[in-house]
Amino acid sequence: MRVLLTAGPTYEPLDPVRFLGNRSTGKMGYALAEAFAATGATVTLISGPTALPAPASPLISTVRVETAQQMYEAAAEAAPLADVWVFAAAVADYRPASVAPEKMKKEGDTLTLELVKNVDIATTLGQTKRAEQFSVGFALETTNELAHAQGKLLRKNFDLVVLNSLRDAGAGFGHDTNKVTVLDRAGQVLNFELQAKSELARTLVALIQTRFTAVYA
Ligand code: CTP
Ligand code: CA
Repeated sequence: MRVLLTAGPTYEPLDPVRFLGNRSTGKMGYALAEAFAATGATVTLISGPTALPAPASPLISTVRVETAQQMYEAAAEAAPLADVWVFAAAVADYRPASVAPEKMKKEGDTLTLELVKNVDIATTLGQTKRAEQFSVGFALETTNELAHAQGKLLRKNFDLVVLNSLRDAGAGFGHDTNKVTVLDRAGQVLNFELQAKSELARTLVALIQTRFTAVYA
């Protein structure tokens, strides 16, 4: 099995020393890469900026990128060759409309930034997905969680969507544990207990491999 995996945040530059980013650490995505490799799968790990070392497994090739656009270009190159796509990255939805060539100087009492929408990697690649390919997305919601996650499943042509819970202590950004609910296209809802991200990664990889094999083997 060949896997394309996006992970970590993206950084969108504002000037040579500043960027817009988010709190994703990449831990869940890197744990998924390790868990796939542990089953013998080869993984192209397309990673935004993180403090994590590139996984040592020879089955994992790590491609480091910074912006959403760079992540898209790397993912678009790997996508046609992969059996399974996993979009675990926290991609910035918008980027500054222009990047100042020099460091921006402190001037007025307020500063308004103009932002423009980034490419949606999962949606764009979802339109190219072949019948024998399998796509998994993540969603983080704070209101109408199941409905929003279901909407993303359809809009982004995912086979499974992993809904992250922010309500539970110890889950989400920066934690070593995570609590998720997985939705499929048949409307099935699978609830998982709070568990270590490494353990959850193994659970999700097993689920993805079972579903992939059931449909395409
Ligand atoms: N995603 C992506 N490219 C983007 C934004 C999101 O590939 N530019 C992927 C994420 O990696 C994730 C899924 O789409 O697998 C859902 O991301 P999310 O931020 O929850 O969805 P959005 O469509 O950006 O909606 P919103 O942030 O408004 O909830
Ligand atoms: Ca988003």
